[in-house]
Parts: sequence; structure tokens; C-alpha cells
Amino acid sequence: MTSTTTQQGPQESRIFPSPAAFAAQATVSGMDAYNALCAEAAADYEGFWGRLAKENLVWQKPFTKVLNEDNAPFYKWFEDGHLNVSYNCLDRNLQNGNADKTAIIFEADDGKSVHVTYKELHEKVCKFANGLKSRGIKKGDRVIIYMSMSVEGVAAMQACARIGATHSVVFGGFSAKSLQERIIDAGAVAVITADEQMRGGKQLPLKAIVDEALALGGCDTIKDVIVYKRTGGNINFVAGRDLWLHDLVDNQSAECEPEWVDAEHPLFILYTSGSTGTPKGVQHSSGGYLLWAALTMKWSFDIKPNDVYWCTADIGWVTGHSYIAYGPTAVGATQVVFEGIPTFPNAGRFWGTIAKHKVSIFYTAPTAIRSLIKASDLDASVHPKNYDLSSVRLLGTVGEPINPEAWMWYYTQVGREVCPIVDTFWQTETGGHMITPLPGATPMVPGSCTLPLPGIMAAIVDESGADVPNGQGGILVVKRPWPSMIRTIWNNPDRFKSSYFPEELGGKMYLAGDGAIRNKDTGYFTITGRIDDVLNVSGHRMGTMEIESALVANPLVAEAAVVGKPDETTGESICAFVVLKQARPTGDDAKKLALELRNWVAKEIGPIAKPKEIRFGDNLPKTRSGKIMRRLLRVLAKGETITQDVSTLENPAILEQLKEAS
Ligand code: PRX
Repeated sequence: MTSTTTQQGPQESRIFPSPAAFAAQATVSGMDAYNALCAEAAADYEGFWGRLAKENLVWQKPFTKVLNEDNAPFYKWFEDGHLNVSYNCLDRNLQNGNADKTAIIFEADDGKSVHVTYKELHEKVCKFANGLKSRGIKKGDRVIIYMSMSVEGVAAMQACARIGATHSVVFGGFSAKSLQERIIDAGAVAVITADEQMRGGKQLPLKAIVDEALALGGCDTIKDVIVYKRTGGNINFVAGRDLWLHDLVDNQSAECEPEWVDAEHPLFILYTSGSTGTPKGVQHSSGGYLLWAALTMKWSFDIKPNDVYWCTADIGWVTGHSYIAYGPTAVGATQVVFEGIPTFPNAGRFWGTIAKHKVSIFYTAPTAIRSLIKASDLDASVHPKNYDLSSVRLLGTVGEPINPEAWMWYYTQVGREVCPIVDTFWQTETGGHMITPLPGATPMVPGSCTLPLPGIMAAIVDESGADVPNGQGGILVVKRPWPSMIRTIWNNPDRFKSSYFPEELGGKMYLAGDGAIRNKDTGYFTITGRIDDVLNVSGHRMGTMEIESALVANPLVAEAAVVGKPDETTGESICAFVVLKQARPTGDDAKKLALELRNWVAKEIGPIAKPKEIRFGDNLPKTRSGKIMRRLLRVLAKGETITQDVSTLENPAILEQLKEAS
């Protein structure tokens, strides 16, 4: 925690009641139903969660204990219960009449689509799981999945779950070095990848990056690299290590007895950025995690048997875990899995795909909405009004705050003013939605994620952990454990405790890392942004320290400081202040070097971490004790004049140099 935010929430007075037709059929049918669930949780917390876990999951051995707090904050949920996640997502659907229902509509980059039924997906996953077993991969082993959006990517995750292997999906946009670091930290035994990925009409490498990552060294635990043939592009094959997925699975049995695991068994590790050090391996459970992924599909998305659901996230992020791989399958939904990008072949791709597959629930990121607003302002032919979006009944957003203007456009232009919007606030660590309107119940306010879901004890406190009154900004915390919460940081329980349950707050409250404010009248939450050194660029989390470390790893760089700068489209953009070991470059030299360093960061971390701007100085603004004054850098990045007191600054003249981008 570096500071308490005292920012005020947006002055937004518009309130949109849930559209009546929607409310009439909604799973949570109004505020009375919402309040009743909250009251149930308040009256008997364990009873509430125990009931939901029994009703929403199939247990091979029922649990007798709901919550174990003995070793807090290492909470355990449903710990003596046994289940299998893939059984809950697949076999359950074969038994309850969904065998021939479409599980996945795969919409390829080139616009071709394929329907896969639950029976077919089950068969694919069983064969995949048997293939993994045939390579000696077993319960508790870690498997890295480095793939683009595909049926095989989802199947790989489910296959790991079926045999009790813990997967760690690495987003296909991460660099070889990032991949290598994750392989080493997870101690993985195998990598599942594809020859190449298709994005925006281009073939991009995947397997070649795996080769590069392994060549960087230290990955001795890896025995197998399993390759899904997506494009048939030319790739290198290492005998004895690499094998084609089709060779591995083709002759396997289509039946695979699930490995029954304890509810606490780690289903996956997903790396995410923190304010310090290397990315953290967020470890999630099997039982508690799946309960929330399934239940929020019903509560937040009001999922019904005939819905066609589409979440545009990538399986490399938590949204693609909870709301593509696991949540939708756990409730037997039909979903679109999209390989491409929103702007190919043109910026009408989302709207065209909704019309084509009659999507009824659509879930995307504010950055995508903002960029499509811009695109349709420039080219009216890609405006949503040109497409038949009448199938849509519910809209959702995730990953970053949505500004009221973008919310209104989404509501009127995409949702025809008849679709509720669920602005879902949550995090990699929370496993599923935390604060969101319930469609059909919660009146909506543009830019506010409104109220916590029943059972989620979210609150706003000051730096000592005391509650702050509504209308006053503070630190967002969750006061009680909940089933889908992070269990630990892989390999680093101490960091788990200090990052999320800091002693300053009493060691028992979960610290989200965001600032928030509640409206004086409605009690609605508005997220005011991170209170640590974490940036949110296009809904992707980036640690400023990680980018700084990447920059100083360049032989030319002596020092670097990275801050976020508000950006109209991406929410925030990355602005880096750099001191070189050589003289400060100017003019074309500076431009050339800035480009070189941007590409360097892309190579070190991945293109998503590329600074948008690099500014060179002879030094950075520092206090006399040598501390970099980041708050001044944030002001400079915004292009604003510094009005703060700079008397503690050792070298005020430096501010002038850092005013403008190279
Ligand atoms: O700052 C919050 C922001 O995204 C962070 C979590 O990022 P990540 O773990 O990558 O997960 C993203 C997908 C769940 C949060 O700490 N954030 C997420 N959703 C919202 C949001 N900020 C405002 N409004 C949201 N709806």
C-alpha cells in the first residue's frame, strides 16, 4: 500500500433501472431477492456457502466442513469433499441432456466456424487426458499451456483438470523470457502449445517462442512439448522432446476416469503482475473456484439454456479461465470461442459475429468498446446499427473502469436500451466476479460496479483498517474469505500474506490493491484505480517495476522509472523516464533510441508491456535521500504543470528536460 486514495467518484446522477422485460425472467429477480441472499449470508455465512456448494457442484465425496480458518489467511473451503472439475463441466452435461447441445462455436480468425457439442468436447478432453497420462503426466504435476484461442486450448485446460494436473496458461503474447520465467517458477513438466497462431490474418509464432524459452536454460523439468497443428507452418522439431498433439491423442480411448481430488487441490496457477518483483503465481483451488465460476454465470450473467454466450477474453487471462474454460461449461452453456481480433477484417467484427451466431450475452473490455466507438466514428459502415443485434439481451464489461460515455454508447448502440450492463469488478486473485450489478435486480449507474455479490463482504477502509463513511475514498478490502479466493502465491506463501493480508490492516482483510469510494446515497461502489505500482493498460495488468527491470536490463540504460498516463482508448498507457549510461540523446537520436527500447521491452516481457512514450533525462527527479519522486513524473507524463512543492527535490532543473516525449 503506498497511499490512500481520496479521489472522489464520478459525479454521475443517471440511474437506469433494470429493463422490466429482463427483470421479469431474471435468475435474481429483483432487489428483494438480492437482499434476501445477502441476509442469508450475513445470518449464517458457512450455511450459505455450504448450501450453494451442494446445489451447484457434483461431489464424488460430499464435504462435511465448509470453511477452515485455523491457518488464516490460508483458508480452506469444503476441504474434505472430493470432486473433479472436468467431470462437473463435461460429464454432468452428458447426463443431464446436453450431450448434443453445442458447447463451443469456434469462430476462427478467417471467419470460418465450427460447432462442437458437449459429447464431442468430452471425447476430445478424455483423449487428451489419456494422452497426457501416457506421457507420465499425473496429479499435481504442473503443465504450461501456451496457446491461442482454440477448442484445443480449452480442451488442454480441461484435460489437465481431468487428471489432476495443475495448469498454468501463459498468454500467447508473452515473450520467450516471460514464458521461461513461468516455466521455471512453476517447475512444469510439459508445455502444450501450437505451431503458430492466427491473428488478424497473420500467422504468428508460438512453438518457435517455446523453443527460444527452453533454449534460455533452466527449464530442465520440461520433458514434453506437445504441439497442436493450427496453421501447418514450418516449425522446428526436437526429437524425443516434441510431439504432435494428434499423434498423442488419436489412438487414445474416448473414456477417461476422472481423478477425484480434494476441493483444495490446485486447479491452476496464473501469473499476474504485482507492485514489486517478478509476476506472482496466483494459485486457485478446485471446489471453491468452480463453485463461484458456475454460480456467477447464473447470477451475474443470468445464463439460461437457450443463451448463446460470448466472452471475448483470451484463455491466457483469468477472464478466459473463469468465463470461458470453466464457468460456461459448468452450467452447460453454448459459447462462442473467438480466435481473432476485434478489428479484422474490419472493426465491425464483433457486431457481425454477434449477428452470425445470434449471441445473447456479450462480455468484453471497455478498451475494446472505446476503440470500436472510435472506429465507427471514422467509418460509419462498422457502426453496430448496421448489424442485427436483436439477439443480445445482456451486456457485460470487465478488466478496467468503464467511463460513463462508453457505457452510454454500449447501452444505447449495442444494447438498444433494453439490455442490462453488468460492470463486473474482480481480479485474477478473486477467481470470479466480486462487485457487479445483478441484471434484473440492481439499478445501474454508468461507471459504477454498484454492489458486492451476495456473500462477498467488500468494504472501504482507511490505512489503519477502519471503515470510512460513504462518500469518502479509501482502500477496497474484503472482510471475510470467500470460496474462489486465491489460496497462496505459488512457491511464496510469505509474499501471499504480505501482499494480500497486510499486518497494517490487521492481517485478516483481503487487500484488493484498488482504491474505491461508495456513493453517499446509494452505497454504490466506484473503483478509483490501483493504489500500488500496478498499471492497467487495455485491461491488462502490468507492474511498473517489471517494465523498469526490463529497461535497465538493456546495456544502454542506467536508470528507469515507469508511470501510468491516462489514455482515452486504453485507459492507461505506459510512460517511461530513462537515464542512459551515455549522454542524453535529442532529436532523431532520441527517437531512434526510444524505438529501440520499446522493442527491447516487447522482447523482454511481451508487446503489451511496450511503453507508449519514452523520455530521456540526465537524471530522474529525486529527493536528497535519492528517492525517485514518482508523483512528479505522473504529473509530467500527463503534460500538466507541476504545482506541488518541489523543495525536497535535489535536482529541480531536471523537470524541464522530462517535460516532453522524444
Ligand atoms: O484495478 C482493477 C481492474 O483490474 C484489476 C484486476 O486485474 P486482473 O487481475 O488482470 O483481472 C482482470 C479481469 C478480472 C483490478 O484490481 N478492474 C477489473 N475489473 C474492473 C476493474 N476496475 C474497474 N472496474 C472494473 N469492472
